Amino acid sequence: MKNLFKTKSLEALLKQPGEGTHALKRILGPVNLTTLGIGGIIGAGIFVLTGQAAAQYAGPAIVLSFIISGFACAFAGLCYAEFASMIPIAGSAYTYAYATLGELFAWIIGWDLVLEYLFGASTVAVGWSGYVVSFLKDMGVVIPPELTAATGKTLIQLPQTGWTMLTGAIASQLQATGVDPATLPQVTAYANVPAMFIVAAVTVLLVVGIKESANFNNVIVILKICVILMFVIFGFKYIQSDNWTPFIPANTGEFGQFGWSGIWRGAGVIFFAYIGFDAVSTAAQEAKNPQRDMPIGILVSLGVCTVLYIIVALVLTGVVKYTNLMVPDPIAVAVNAAGDGLYWLRPIIKVGAIAGLSSVVLVLLLGQPRIFFSMANDGLLPAAFAKVHPRFQTPYIPTIITGVIAMIIAGMLPINILGELVSIGTLLAFVIVCVGVLVLRYKRPDIKRAFKTPLVPYVPVLGALAALSQMAGLPLDTWIRLIVWMVLGLAIYFLYGRYHSKLRK
Ligand code: ALA
Repeated sequence: MKNLFKTKSLEALLKQPGEGTHALKRILGPVNLTTLGIGGIIGAGIFVLTGQAAAQYAGPAIVLSFIISGFACAFAGLCYAEFASMIPIAGSAYTYAYATLGELFAWIIGWDLVLEYLFGASTVAVGWSGYVVSFLKDMGVVIPPELTAATGKTLIQLPQTGWTMLTGAIASQLQATGVDPATLPQVTAYANVPAMFIVAAVTVLLVVGIKESANFNNVIVILKICVILMFVIFGFKYIQSDNWTPFIPANTGEFGQFGWSGIWRGAGVIFFAYIGFDAVSTAAQEAKNPQRDMPIGILVSLGVCTVLYIIVALVLTGVVKYTNLMVPDPIAVAVNAAGDGLYWLRPIIKVGAIAGLSSVVLVLLLGQPRIFFSMANDGLLPAAFAKVHPRFQTPYIPTIITGVIAMIIAGMLPINILGELVSIGTLLAFVIVCVGVLVLRYKRPDIKRAFKTPLVPYVPVLGALAALSQMAGLPLDTWIRLIVWMVLGLAIYFLYGRYHSKLRK
C-alpha cells in the first residue's frame, strides 16, 4: 500500500532518461517554445466555440468570460511554469505528480492526460474537418456527406446551409418552422475521413522529426496570428456599437443563459480555447535551456493568446449581433456580415483557420507520445514506448500508436462529446499541478526553482479552485465518461504498471 504513494526523488527524475536510444534532441529555444504554446492554443476554441458561447450563454459579455477563464488558466500556468523550471522532464503533469504525490497519482494523471492530448487532437481534427469541407465546397469540391461525420450519425440536407448533423436542437428548430426533418434528404455517416486524414498526416510529420515539426509549427503560427490580426484590424471599421448593447444581456430566468451566470458558463465552454499552453511542458527534454525557457514558453504564449482572444471577441460581437453567431465558423460569418468590403478576406480566414487547427493537432500529438515516453521510462508502460528512432531521434513507436488511436477516435466520435471530455481531463490535470506546487514547496523547499509561482499559497489554491469549479459546471455524462476512463486506467495500473515500476526495483 505504501508503495502506491511512493514518490520519485527529484534527483532520480533529473538523472533520467539515459543517453543513446533514449535521448531526445535538444533544439528548442524560447521562441520555438512560445510558438509551440501558441500553436497549441489558438484553434477550435476561438475559430469555432466563441460564437456559439456568445450566442447561447454570454452575448457580447463573452469578452468577460475570456477574461475569467484567462485568469484561471494564468494561475495554473504559473504553477506549470514553476514545475517546468524545476523538473524539466518530458512528462508534464505526470512527472510533477510522481515527484510530489506518488506513483498512483502519477499514473492517474498520466492516464488522464491522454484525454487532454490524444482525445484533444481528435477533437480539433473534427473541427479541422468542418472547415475543410466548407472551404472545399466554396471551391466546388463536394466530399460525400457520409464521409464527413462521426460513425452512425444522421446527416440531413438543409435547403440553405447544406448537409448538417441532425441534432435534437436542429430537429426542434425545424419542427418549429413547420418542417418535418424526415422529409429532408438523409444519409448515415460511415466516418469522418478528413479528420482521420489530418491525424495521419501530422503523425507522419512527427515521426520524421522534432525540428521539422517545430519549423512547420512556426510557419503556421505566424499565419494564424496574421489572419487573426487581419480580422481585428479590418473588422474594426465595421463595429457597430449597437451590437454591444446590452453588453450583458439579461438572464432568461435559467441558470447559465445570459446574465452573470451565463458569463460563468461561457467561461467554462471557452476554457477549451486556452488548452495547449501546458503542452510546452511536454517538450522539456527537447529544450536547449529548459529551466529558463519553459516558463517563458508557457507564460508568454498564454499571455499573447489571452490578449488576442479578448480583442477578437470584442470585434466579433461588435461586427455581428451575438444572436447570429450560433454557427461552426463565426469569424467567417462576421466577415460576411461586414458586407462586400471584406469579401476578399473570407477565403483567407478559412485557410488561416484550417492551417491554425492543423498546428493544434500537431502540438497535441507531439505532447502525448512524450508523456508515454516518460511513463515507459518509469516502467509503467512497456519499454517500446520509450524507444527513440535511431535516425529521426523521435519517440516513434508511441507517436505511431497515438496517431492510430487518435485517428480512429476522430473518425468515429462527434465534437461535442470529445470537447467536454478533453476539458474535464485537462481541468483535473490543472488541479493536480496546482496542488503539487503547494506540496513540493512544503516538502522540498530546498530545491532550486528557476521560476517561482508568486503569492503562494494563494495562486495555487485559486488555480485549483477555479479548475474545480469549472469541472463542476460540466454535464453528468462527461463526469461518468471520466470515471469510466479512470477505472480502465486503474485496472491497467494494477495489472501491469505496479509490477513493472522501476521505482520498486
Ligand atoms: N486550445 C485549443 C483549441 O482551441 C485546444 O483548439
